[in-house]
Amino acid sequence: MAVRLLHLLGSPVLRQRAARVDRVDADVRQLVDDLFETMRAAKGVGLAANQVGIAQRVAVVDIGEEDPGPLVLINPMIVHGSEDTEAAEEGCLSIPEIFGEVTRPKRVVIEALDREGQPWRAEVAGYKARAVQHEIDHLDGVLFLDHLSAVKRSLLVAKWKKARKGKTGYVKEVTPEPAGEL
Ligand code: NI
Repeated sequence: MAVRLLHLLGSPVLRQRAARVDRVDADVRQLVDDLFETMRAAKGVGLAANQVGIAQRVAVVDIGEEDPGPLVLINPMIVHGSEDTEAAEEGCLSIPEIFGEVTRPKRVVIEALDREGQPWRAEVAGYKARAVQHEIDHLDGVLFLDHLSAVKRSLLVAKWKKARKGKTGYVKEVTPEPAGEL
């Protein structure tokens, strides 16, 4: 397993529509494992393949629940979204330090393949439903910023550009903090 480089806002792969996975083979399983490792190193709750520079429809979500555990989303589809919506603050590992309130359906029914290539279907709600929708958006080249008003979005993009001033490139190494460090 390996922690991969994170792609940040400005990297073209974040705007690509990821390709469907034809076959869940060893490379795809490796990608799943690396997404989990990179997400955990970065202290995120979800990560999509675009964010590590790979435009394939693979993502992971782990909001810290033990049962059911982490979700592997290969070729995920939202087959139903509730009419009830909820607004809550979201951030993204590809846009560090930037947060915005996004309105999304409270509950969604999803279908996807797991790490073994087996189809599964589940209804998820609340924070998990939000995380799943955020990750599936990534696979379509959509970022949480796109759900905000034009005014709010340009404010946040300006803030992002200011924070990035002097920095070059659109990839970042994730350096896990050593365990036990204060
Ligand atoms: Ni994100």
